[in-house]
Amino acid sequence: MPTKQQLLDELKKEMEENTTLPLSDTANFVFGEGDADAEVLFIGEAPGFHENQQQRPFVGLAGQLLDKLLGEINWPRESVYITNIVKRRPPENRDPLPEEIEVYAPYLKRQIEILQPKTIATLGRFSMNYFLPETKISRDHGRLLKASEQLIYPLYHPAAALRSTAVLEDLRKDFHKLPHILATGTMPFENRAEAQPYDPVKEEPKAQQDSLF
Ligand code: URA
Repeated sequence: MPTKQQLLDELKKEMEENTTLPLSDTANFVFGEGDADAEVLFIGEAPGFHENQQQRPFVGLAGQLLDKLLGEINWPRESVYITNIVKRRPPENRDPLPEEIEVYAPYLKRQIEILQPKTIATLGRFSMNYFLPETKISRDHGRLLKASEQLIYPLYHPAAALRSTAVLEDLRKDFHKLPHILATGTMPFENRAEAQPYDPVKEEPKAQQDSLF
């Protein structure tokens, strides 16, 4: 029985060799990295300039902020898995096109099937909308949602947080809830939301949560 890492290596090779995939003629391939047995998978949108150069996800300024936030919750970067929907850099860092997302989507699906993470933390609206097309990042960030049976925790993109201190505050607040979410599969109690279009995963009863802290 192959290990998750072996299956990821096979998928990576298959994708790298497929030069018909979008952006193959203009950009390097950035598959993703981290612990194949990670319980949390972070998904961004597409590589940027530095990611393209180093062929690693989230290594530029946005990546440095991601690393800092991971440090704040004592999660080594190597203990999670980090990838993007689109695996090659769009020119001039433009948004990925719907047809690019569509072609890369089945590969991301396979990557997720191999990793089987407990929770997927989406970074920015593109990866959030990949799972939950009707969601809005300003409304739904920091809410634990379900897409099929998969737990999705939408976060602001770190690049957006670099442009706005208000967004950074929200991202940090949401990020700090990740250990609780991973440990319990539920939101901390105080995060109860009013309108819940996606049947978000319910919070724990207060008594139970008090005992955790
Ligand atoms: N932005 C992303 O969405 N992904 C990266 O890997 C880097 C920046």
